[in-house]
Amino acid sequence: MTTATTGTGTARGSVGTSHTRVEGRDKVTGAARYAGEVPFADLAHGWLVLSTVARGRIRSMETGTVLGMPGVLTVLHHQNAPRVDIDHVGVLGVRPDPTAALFQHDRVPHMGWPVALVVAETSEQARAAAEALVVHYDERPHDVAFPAAHPDGYPADGFMPAVTEKGDLESELAASAVVVDAQYTTPEEHHSMMEPHAATAHWDGGRLDVIDSNQGSTWVADELVKMFSLDPSSVRVRSEHVGGGFGSKGLRAHQVAAVMAATVLQRPVRVVLTRRQMFSLAGYRSPTTQRIRLGADTDGRLRALEHSSLSLTSTVHEFIEPSAGVARVMYDADAHHTANRLVRLDVPTPTFMRAPGEAPGSFALEAALDELAERCGVDPIELRARNEPERGPVSGLPFSGRNLMACFREGARRFGWADRDPRPGLCREGRWLLGTGTAAASFPSGAAPSTATATAEADGTFTVRIAASDIGTGARTALTLVAADALGAAPDRVRVHIGDSDFGPAMIAGGSMGTRSWAWAVTAAAGELRERLALGAGIPPEGITVRSDTSAAVQALAQKERHSFGAQFAEVAVDVTTGEVRIRRMLGIFAAGRIVNPLTARSQLVGGMTWGISMALHEEAVRDRASGGHVGADLAGYHVATHADVPLIEADWIDDPDPEDPVGIKGIGEIGIVGAAAAIANAVWHATGVRHRSLPIRPDRVL
Ligand code: MOS
Repeated sequence: MTTATTGTGTARGSVGTSHTRVEGRDKVTGAARYAGEVPFADLAHGWLVLSTVARGRIRSMETGTVLGMPGVLTVLHHQNAPRVDIDHVGVLGVRPDPTAALFQHDRVPHMGWPVALVVAETSEQARAAAEALVVHYDERPHDVAFPAAHPDGYPADGFMPAVTEKGDLESELAASAVVVDAQYTTPEEHHSMMEPHAATAHWDGGRLDVIDSNQGSTWVADELVKMFSLDPSSVRVRSEHVGGGFGSKGLRAHQVAAVMAATVLQRPVRVVLTRRQMFSLAGYRSPTTQRIRLGADTDGRLRALEHSSLSLTSTVHEFIEPSAGVARVMYDADAHHTANRLVRLDVPTPTFMRAPGEAPGSFALEAALDELAERCGVDPIELRARNEPERGPVSGLPFSGRNLMACFREGARRFGWADRDPRPGLCREGRWLLGTGTAAASFPSGAAPSTATATAEADGTFTVRIAASDIGTGARTALTLVAADALGAAPDRVRVHIGDSDFGPAMIAGGSMGTRSWAWAVTAAAGELRERLALGAGIPPEGITVRSDTSAAVQALAQKERHSFGAQFAEVAVDVTTGEVRIRRMLGIFAAGRIVNPLTARSQLVGGMTWGISMALHEEAVRDRASGGHVGADLAGYHVATHADVPLIEADWIDDPDPEDPVGIKGIGEIGIVGAAAAIANAVWHATGVRHRSLPIRPDRVL
């Protein structure tokens, strides 16, 4: 780490150099406290009770027995809980999922619906009482079966239009020399981050203080303000360290439960979700059924492209997994139709999960492209080169930068793609069939309004405050490097405080927009502070503080197709006797803007690619139709890739700064998983000659 600096204006160039995490020592020594372990005097513990039926009404609850159990303080349920308001639009521009509005009615819309909170002196007492609480239901028939037949469902918008259509699909398909028409399925998948959801709420001198684990403290604070009809200045949410989020850590039942109980009891209350509860309360990725139709001339140039996707949501809230969206960016055709459809079932509401839409959508689309390449006798990379669009296929907008083919060229060189025999099933090594595959990746790149402050302290150091969230990505360290460069100081003279709603509005850690949005605000505040110091301002004991707000700046960005891009490569070995698929190596090359911290950026991308292995080979939540609940709702039953499944993975990038961003950032949050499952599926085809269109590629499906 650079240390040879004694004042502003003498150090630069921290961005782009590798730094270990500034809070790394705290994390590995246990000094970093997570939301479920911050000590509080007089702390009470809440334990959620979830429904054991999939649909119906609560008839009665035997709370009397439970209230007499050791240490029990109260039982909150639909007849005595505080009323909350969910008829509002939150900071993301959507209504909150009513699942978080606990105990407002007696209706049970899915298995695992929260029906009560038992609060006791200790966590063990709360758990014992919660498990002893007898709830009587009037049960109704339920339907949790995601339809395999494709035409069901209604078009649903979400954050993008449900349907896009140009050209005459049927006539272009009829005129095509080669047609691929295939259905793909992906299963229900869960975030399964290491740290479960946890919150401690208490009233402190008239202010509600919530210690939480989330992806945006101002986001959660704003929801609590609206839900409990509080004054915005009277709510503070802090989330200093977060053990993973992947999209699931917004406002959920645990914060609301903790706030309700802290309000009723007037003492601090902690609520932690169990791993099993997370399967019904933390959101998840909907299963998808996708149909792709591609029509091309013999040289592989597309004439027709259809991508339609069906996903599910609950009966209480609409959330769409927009898998067809990726086709609107990647490939053009004279006839180009995409649609995202939805069915409502008696299941929990799904939510954002790492690369929502792009992850399952790219599996289907990039696998279909591989089939088209095979049928046309064109190399898969060359096929993509022949279909590079000039402009956004649906938007018609120019790309802010599209270095997809540069990623493929660099990736092909390093992976040794040129040596590949394209014919499948030829390469055998003992009981293993070997194959290689590739796929493209993309993810939107954007910036959202954020505020930050930068303070020049009297001792010559700097303090930056921003309500950013470091969910394990290294955001805090990245912002330290960004601030250091903007201040002209060495990183070890810059402290960055994050995860506190008192710091003012800031983008959430989501949409791969966190670091870029925060870096913009930090650069603005630090840059202005540096200018003031250059004018020779003396620093008073309280320091000099400058505040930035990027609302106007980010809205002035030109209208363009803004994306990061990437090329994924995989080599697999398939055991012909057991059907086991092993990954031998993976390579991802990305064009994803300027890379702030190569050390943690690589880790982020490798993490995403590892999730791609999980998605391709392991992850699958299984729902029992009879009960409406999960089979094996834990990390023994729900498989994710472990160390033994993950061989050498290389992630690297090409030079691709965004000229319109003050730091050149585009965002690398989610692109690592995009295309990874398709590259693996394409490699399995190359090894075996069999196309796998349903994930995960389990041994029983391979044989
Ligand atoms: Mo990400 S799924 O936007 O947290």
